[in-house]
Amino acid sequence: MAKTKTQYECSNCGYISPKWNGSCPSCGEWNTFVEKTVSKGKSSSAHKAKVEGLEATAAPKKLEDVETSEKTRFTSNISELDRVLGGGFLPGSYVLIGGEPGVGKSTLTLQIAKSNPELTILYCAGEESAGQIKQRAARLGVKSDKLLVYNETQVDSIIAEAQKMQPDLLIVDSIQTVYRTELSSMPGSIQQVKECAALFQQLAKRKNITTLVIGHVTKEGDIAGPRVLEHMVDTVLQFEGDKQYTYRLLRSLKNRFGAAQEVGVFEMKSDGLSEVSNPSELFISDKTAGVSGNAVVCTMEGTRPLLIEVQALVTPSAYGSPQRTANGFDRNRLLLLLAVLEKRVGKNFSNHDVYLNIAGGFRLNDPAGDLGVCCALVSSLMDEAVAQNMAFVGEVGLGGEVRTVPHLEQRIKEAKKLGFKELVAPDSKQKDGIRYLHEAIKKALR
Ligand code: TYD
Ligand code: MG
Repeated sequence: MAKTKTQYECSNCGYISPKWNGSCPSCGEWNTFVEKTVSKGKSSSAHKAKVEGLEATAAPKKLEDVETSEKTRFTSNISELDRVLGGGFLPGSYVLIGGEPGVGKSTLTLQIAKSNPELTILYCAGEESAGQIKQRAARLGVKSDKLLVYNETQVDSIIAEAQKMQPDLLIVDSIQTVYRTELSSMPGSIQQVKECAALFQQLAKRKNITTLVIGHVTKEGDIAGPRVLEHMVDTVLQFEGDKQYTYRLLRSLKNRFGAAQEVGVFEMKSDGLSEVSNPSELFISDKTAGVSGNAVVCTMEGTRPLLIEVQALVTPSAYGSPQRTANGFDRNRLLLLLAVLEKRVGKNFSNHDVYLNIAGGFRLNDPAGDLGVCCALVSSLMDEAVAQNMAFVGEVGLGGEVRTVPHLEQRIKEAKKLGFKELVAPDSKQKDGIRYLHEAIKKALR
């Protein structure tokens, strides 16, 4: 006879403990532990992800006998989306779009239906009613008689319907709303999210149905967010954007079928998301040319160069310890650059408050932005504007040297394209390349 033992399982996250707990050590929820009896020798997760018709049927095959579908990629007809997907959807691929609520995930997926009226799309909506989706679709101008809206959140029904219908694209909005009745935990709990995602993975792979799943991530990086799903899916796209601004970045964090770290740029308008094919124009304004403290830098987003504006404001400080504030830029990096400016260039900021802002709500993480940041800081300190039509690229080292950065040629090309006559960039085979920070500052503030 099999031995049995008692254990306690958190109904929220599935954490297993030998004794009862008031609050779960894993997810922090209170009163979620339920007693379970398990027989020894068997897997403690008594429940397996299995659904009618989805059992494994494939036998091992020689690599050369495996059929590939690389040629049959189909486009989403949204070029910024195709770019991050690596050239369109691969049939049977499993894509996750993550992002904060309200960033525009549902809008983007509905727009796929708009630009592809010939695709059969099964849109499973758990967050909005069919009526609300119809209203939104009307606003977006979706005219497709092959778009089917399915107000269902039970994963088994969705899978059954998808197998029957064999759509070109299955959209699940969102993974946090779908659930399996066999599990006791709430929809959105980590257990439900993982299990449902695993079932959609089997559906995509075994039935060759291209599946696009939407997942919410909260600011706190919620535990039941899509981060736990990253290993299951082929592609993870993250939709980012500040609510105060209209631009949105769609970033590929992982892509089994294309380049990761690729970025697509959109703008949210009253009739939905529109593609921005020249994003640099979005972040640069002509109004600030000739004002002290402004510098344009060329950063890379994926394989794409992007010109953005850095703004510094340096004012005499009224109190003992001066303020240092950075918006869209790492504050520690700002402190480091100030120290380099002080030690290597002799610019003293110790009696000044320093405010640094990256225009347009953009976040500058690329070290190639250092040089522009330093020039903006000195420009504001001396109250002298940076020379017109000048852009900056280069990483600043602790010795005050300007180091070269990847994709320099592409950056130079982008700056030229946007009408910047002079690019202050590190020495790399080009005749007027600079080597030290003080040379760059001299050039910028002449
Ligand atoms: P939505 O796609 O519902 O976000 P998510 O699915 O990621 O939660 O986007 C909602 C936001 O987009 C909302 O703040 C309103 C705005 N929006 C527009 O500005 N224009 C539009 O045409 C649409 C459909 C939405
Ligand atoms: Mg939504």
